Amino acid sequence: MHHFHYKNQELFCEGISVAEIARKVGTPFYLYSHQTLIDHFRKIKTAFAPVDPLICFAMKANGNLAVMRTLIREGAGVDIVSGGELRKALKAGADPQKICYASVGKTESEITLALKSNILFFNVESIAELCEINRIAKKLNKKARVALRLNPDVNAVTHAAITTGTLKNKFGIDLATAKNILLSRDRYSNLVINGLHIHIGSQITTSAPFLRALKKVLIFKRSLDAKGIKVEYLDIGGGMAADYVEGTAQPADKIAKALVPLLKKIGLKVIMEPGRFIVANAGVFVTKVLYLKDNGVKKFLIVDGAMNDLIRPSLYDSFHEILPVSRSASKKITVDVVGPVCESGDYLGKDRKLPALAPGSLIAVLTTGAYGYAMSSNYNARCRSAEVMVSKNKFSVVKDREAFVDLVRGEHIPGFIK
Ligand code: LLP
Repeated sequence: MHHFHYKNQELFCEGISVAEIARKVGTPFYLYSHQTLIDHFRKIKTAFAPVDPLICFAMKANGNLAVMRTLIREGAGVDIVSGGELRKALKAGADPQKICYASVGKTESEITLALKSNILFFNVESIAELCEINRIAKKLNKKARVALRLNPDVNAVTHAAITTGTLKNKFGIDLATAKNILLSRDRYSNLVINGLHIHIGSQITTSAPFLRALKKVLIFKRSLDAKGIKVEYLDIGGGMAADYVEGTAQPADKIAKALVPLLKKIGLKVIMEPGRFIVANAGVFVTKVLYLKDNGVKKFLIVDGAMNDLIRPSLYDSFHEILPVSRSASKKITVDVVGPVCESGDYLGKDRKLPALAPGSLIAVLTTGAYGYAMSSNYNARCRSAEVMVSKNKFSVVKDREAFVDLVRGEHIPGFIK
């Protein structure tokens, strides 16, 4: 649970009571522990120290500026997937020479912005994209640094929706094509193709899938060596699991121990793109009980947070532990924790044992720092929640709760509608 803990039966984030924050900012809200972010970043840094990697935080997991600034201060680079992420990363203070950019569909304006910003490299996912970056770089009279995203065709052994490294997925370039590109890389006059990239999936709990992929990379690299083709970087992507149910996830040092010997053998400068591992456990989602409903078959705890705030349970059937913010000795009942959105799939937890919480009580949905707020929406015209960060005994709203003006911003009723 890291820096979220109970003190006199009250849930605290570092030195502040969660209930006190709720009184001041209202509900629902995401709550991040600054120290937990730092601890997790350092865990990876220390575990992989023997290969001294550049750690590019995958900001798609959590793009809040304060979260990013915290990690950038620790020396992190940023892994981006869009022009919007590039602009946010720069605003958060990222060094462009520590930014790598993956996406199967980069547009001309995004590529232009990345070239002008002088990012470290593009992780390129197809020949068509390679040609397009070459064309734009030529137009701008620049050289674009490129790593080829390899599709190693390995199963990451995770949820189907977050598997990316098999040939059934849209990501990366198959090994034979990648080799041909490297053999004829001189034909791309404005590209410097000097890196390899893999990212095989997310929430990977053991080292085995990483090892399978890296073994393929090692063979690939040796086949390049045999042809006298040198590359500089190996970006091993993200994917290390977070601990959703205590005890199921591998700690970073276990995975590092398995990977480091192979990484040393490959002998390239290592880049990593962890997202979830760093931020998931650093965040909780705090929501308030509105009603308890019993239809004779099931009991429902209806709360003011919903699938538009946290879509992971609805989308992936994912488990997040739910705790009462104030612990009591009262008897537990089994409830589905659901939100107000008009969908049966709108739930935060099913069949959970919780005390019969009265309206106004607070609950915390754990391990929601990654892909929580980042995937939230305005469905049902619900304002996105606030985001709050705690450091020791201080807290700060790091993103305002949305208001009605945000819901209608940019909408127009045209003159031809009477
Ligand atoms: N690098 C690339 C190229 C990626 O596509 C991703 C995640 C990462 C790094 C970071 O992966 P991580 O270390 O966070 O596993 N919304 C899903 C997860 C989607 C992951 C997409 N790509 C979820 O909530 O589980």
